[in-house]
This record gives sequence, structure tokens and C-alpha cells, in this order.
Amino acid sequence: MIICHCQNITDHDINAAIDWMRASDGKTIITPGKVYRALGKAADCGGCMPLFLSTMRGNEYLEVPMHLRNLKPVATQENHHERRQESH
Ligand code: FES
Repeated sequence: MIICHCQNITDHDINAAIDWMRASDGKTIITPGKVYRALGKAADCGGCMPLFLSTMRGNEYLEVPMHLRNLKPVATQENHHERRQESH
């Protein structure tokens, strides 16, 4: 189905771009602009954005996988004591 009539982008094109980006970088945040760039195109009128976003949200690989989120180490009680100065 054609999603963007200005650039002749189909739902298949959008899903293929998302799948490719997720396979290339598991932590990347995928935006409509990145999808356009991956397809070698640029948005024109923007009238397709609601349907474009809806199509993107339908792709199971749009979001960063749960196991790759929050990779910043969480401060534990043990880490907290390591930073405290002994002189107190
Ligand atoms: S319909 Fe997609 S930019 Fe115009």
C-alpha cells in the first residue's frame, strides 16, 4: 500500500528500512526522517505523517529491544560506599 504519495513510499519500503536499521544498530532510535534517508528520499508535503507513523508503530522492530535499554549501570549501595571518603 502506498503510504507517501509524494515520494511513492509503500508500507513494505518503511518496514524494510526499519528492519535494516534495527539489524544494523540494535540501539538506534528510528525516526521518520531516518526512514526517509534510508530510502534515499525526503519528505515533501508531510501529509502522510500520521499514516507513516502508524505504519512505523506497526513494526515490531521499531523500538530499541528491552535488553539494550538502560545500559547505564545503576548505582548500588556498594558503589555508593566506594565513593564516600574514609576521613569522616
Ligand atoms: S505524502 Fe508523504 S511527503 Fe507528501
